[in-house]
Amino acid sequence: MKGIILAGGTATRLFPLTATTSKQLLPIYDRQMIFYPLNVLIKAGIKNILIIVAPEHSGQFINLLGSIFEKAGIHLEFKVQKVPKGLAEAFVLGESFIGDDNVAMALGDNIFEDDLGEKIKRFERGGLVFAKKVSDPERFGVVEFDENDNVISIEEKPKKAKSNYALTGIYVYDKRVIKIAKNLSPSCRGEVEITDVNKRFMKMGELKVEKIRGAWLDAGTYDSLLEASNVVKKKELYKKFDPIVDLAIMEFNSELKKIAKKRLN
Ligand code: DAU
Repeated sequence: MKGIILAGGTATRLFPLTATTSKQLLPIYDRQMIFYPLNVLIKAGIKNILIIVAPEHSGQFINLLGSIFEKAGIHLEFKVQKVPKGLAEAFVLGESFIGDDNVAMALGDNIFEDDLGEKIKRFERGGLVFAKKVSDPERFGVVEFDENDNVISIEEKPKKAKSNYALTGIYVYDKRVIKIAKNLSPSCRGEVEITDVNKRFMKMGELKVEKIRGAWLDAGTYDSLLEASNVVKKKELYKKFDPIVDLAIMEFNSELKKIAKKRLN
């Protein structure tokens, strides 16, 4: 399986913080936000990951991540998304990277307490997405279940939500997602919507929605950004990373220290 992290966009809701750097490079307690989606994909055993970034921040992503995962056999590639045309564009930009494989896409600003690695590993065909009960579903893609937990509707940021279950930012599909994404028309907000991809798999009877446990945060606003750091500290989520990620961060830190020492001498 291949992995994609969507870490572009303009993040205007976080101005002025995101006037100088990318949202996904902002800190969540002791590490940059991007390490959270990376951790999910690495825990799922994925070794090839494409990181989609905005043009103005591409250099910062390469400085941070460009070489620190090599020793662990994790191959990272970077691709620039010139204009944020929507989440589903990731599969069009990633077409040759995905090839004939399955793909797991993680949004760069989502933080999960639940360990989704095993669930992603078990994926075979169709689509697999994850839902979480929230108090403010109108902010998200909303999924409605019948009494047997079958999915009966999916809507993107509805004015009046039909359920309290939000669709979270991990999406696993087989390669048919490329063709589906290519044939989408932009929504009224001008984006190619991941919700429309999910609806296609749902109509084909091939969408599985799993409910997740524990905290889930979309760190896209001042409040949710702060809450994410607080939850990470309180629940000690920063101690539950895959050792590959911890080692990579340690390597980056020791390189930084060496450079700082040289400057002082
Ligand atoms: O967080 C989960 C929610 O993510 C889902 O419930 C929604 O169904 C889904 O549409 C999405 O909603 P958001 O409004 O939160 O998406 P946002 O615009 O914040 O983008 C999510 C991430 O993807 C963020 O890290 C920025 C990045 N992005 C976004 C767009 C539109 C890109 O890299 N390129 C893009 O074109």
